[in-house]
This record gives sequence, C-alpha cells and structure tokens, in this order.
Amino acid sequence: MSDYRQVQIGFIGGGNMAQAIIRGLLTAGHAANSIAVAEPAEPQQQAIARLSDAIGLTADNASVAAASELLVLAVKPQVMADVCEALGSVDRKQQQTMVSVAAGITLESLAGWLGTATSIVRVMPNQPAMVAEGMSGLCASQSVSDTGREHATYLMEATGKTVWLDDETLMDAVTAISGSGPAYFYLVMEILQEVAEEFGFDSDTAHLLSTQTGLGASRVAGEESESLAALRQRVSSPGGTTEAALASLEDAGIRDMFRKALIAARNRSVELGKAQGND
Ligand SMILES: NC(=O)c1ccc[n+]([C@@H]2O[C@H](COP(=O)([O-])OP(=O)(O)OC[C@H]3O[C@@H](n4cnc5c(N)ncnc54)[C@H](OP(=O)(O)O)[C@@H]3O)[C@@H](O)[C@H]2O)c1
Repeated sequence: MSDYRQVQIGFIGGGNMAQAIIRGLLTAGHAANSIAVAEPAEPQQQAIARLSDAIGLTADNASVAAASELLVLAVKPQVMADVCEALGSVDRKQQQTMVSVAAGITLESLAGWLGTATSIVRVMPNQPAMVAEGMSGLCASQSVSDTGREHATYLMEATGKTVWLDDETLMDAVTAISGSGPAYFYLVMEILQEVAEEFGFDSDTAHLLSTQTGLGASRVAGEESESLAALRQRVSSPGGTTEAALASLEDAGIRDMFRKALIAARNRSVELGKAQGND
C-alpha cells in the first residue's frame, strides 16, 4: 500500500469512534495537520485537541467536508440522515471517498441522503479500536476506486484489522460477531472474576486472573496457526480440570446458547437497519 500519511482526512463527529481512529492514525505517523474534525460539543473538541493541537477543529461540517480527500462520518446513526442531507450540497473534492462507521446504515441510504454521486465505504468497527485492536468489516459502493478502498483500509487498519465484504448483507453478521463480540468476551471474563471472588480472591486479583487469561488466550489464538479446537484440546488433558469444566459447559448446551445469541444479534441488526430508514 502507498504511503497515505499526508492524505487530508476529515471527521464529521469527534466522539469515541473518531477519537479511537485519530489516536491510531497519529500512532501510525499520520500528519496531525492533515486531520480535521467537525464537532459541535466542547468536551469532545477538547478531547481531540489533547490528541494533538495540530488537528484542525471546527463546528462547521461543510468546511471539513469540502477540504477532505477521505471524509469519515462518525456521528450517531440517528443524526446521519440530517448530516448527509446537509453535506449533499457541499462542493466536495471530486476524488473524495466517504467512510461511514454508523451501525446499521446501508450504502443505499447514505447515497440517497447525500443525493449526489459519492464513493462511499461502509464500516462496522468495534470497541477495541480504542486500543488499536479493533476488528472492522468494510464494504464499498460500486463507484469506490482502488485508491478509495486503500484509503479506507489505511484508515481502519490504524485501529486494528480489516476484512472486506463483497456482500453488504453480511454486515449484519459482522455486527453480530465482531461488532457486539467484545461484550460476549467481557461477560465470560466477568463470570470468571465473580467466581474467582467466590473462591476467595479479592476483587483486584480476581480481575487480574480473569482479564490476563482472556488477553493471553486471545493472543495465542491470534498468533498460533493451530485451529481453536486444537488449542483448546492442548490445554484439556484427559481426566483433568479443564476437561471437567468443558464437559460441564457442553452439557449445559453452551454451543447452542451462543448460536442462538448470535442469531438474535444478527436479526436485531437487520431490524435496527430497517428502523433507521434503510427500507
Ligand atoms: N463506539 C463504538 O464502539 C462503535 C462501534 C461501532 C460503530 N460505532 C459507530 O460510530 C458512530 C459514532 O459512535 P460514537 O460511539 O463515537 O458516538 P459519540 O461518542 O456520540 O460521537 C458522535 C459525535 O458526533 C457529534 N455530533 C452530533 N451531531 C453532529 C452533527 N450534526 N455534526 C457533527 N457532529 C455531530 C456528537 O456530539 P454531541 O455529543 O453533542 O451529540 C458526538 O460528539 C456511530 O454511528 C456508531 O454506530 C461506534
């Protein structure tokens, strides 16, 4: 991939997700004076300024939209229609690529609200973007050029890993797996912590035992070439403690429970998409 560290990147909305992406970009060496943010709220503006005082800050969406080669729409889904309709009349750079990180808003809705021919990439990021360990699913409208795709990849890789989808309907599945996914792992770690406390550990030690185990397992799973099942079997000696725990979980139907949960998340993503005016 080319060096995009001077590309002019604008953000509409400077909240949690925008800040996570900007932090990642700065760490990756992106020029701070090539980043501009349109954000109405004073506390968020201050948070952006703390990342670098060279970042351009304004409350004027139009000026950021007009100057950016890569324009990131990072507002809540509920305000996206109004924001896009206003941007539709702004004279933007011809080669501009827009990237929306809004959950559930389709490429078709975005294009309809913008009302002009626009190259749009839709992204479903997740919360670990805030520590540059995010997982983002991306899909593009037909008109996005190879450079536009590379820009979007560059943007989101500043926050972790990326996967491109040819079929936009898979965004609901990405939402169920990686978008909502961190919460499933937090729940498991929460249970480990609770039980560790019941076993007699103080809360801090129980938290450490749980979270460091989650981190360690994630790193092994990400770095080793063996399958997840093989890694699991490697720590499950016959007749041992792990095997006893896993047998108890299998008896309780953990696989079916998770499968149902993930289907519920994917279905909810479809429903929310419809409610947000995608139909
Ligand atoms: N955070 C995540 O982990 C995560 C994960 C996946 C997807 N996303 C997506 O990322 C997007 C942003 O989420 P977030 O968590 O970063 O939300 P957020 O912290 O609320 O950030 C949105 C920011 O946009 C500002 N804003 C509101 N109206 C605006 C307007 N008309 N023009 C410019 N800025 C405006 C808001 O200001 P006010 O506070 O004054 O309203 C707020 O600071 C959402 O669409 C969400 O679906 C987030």
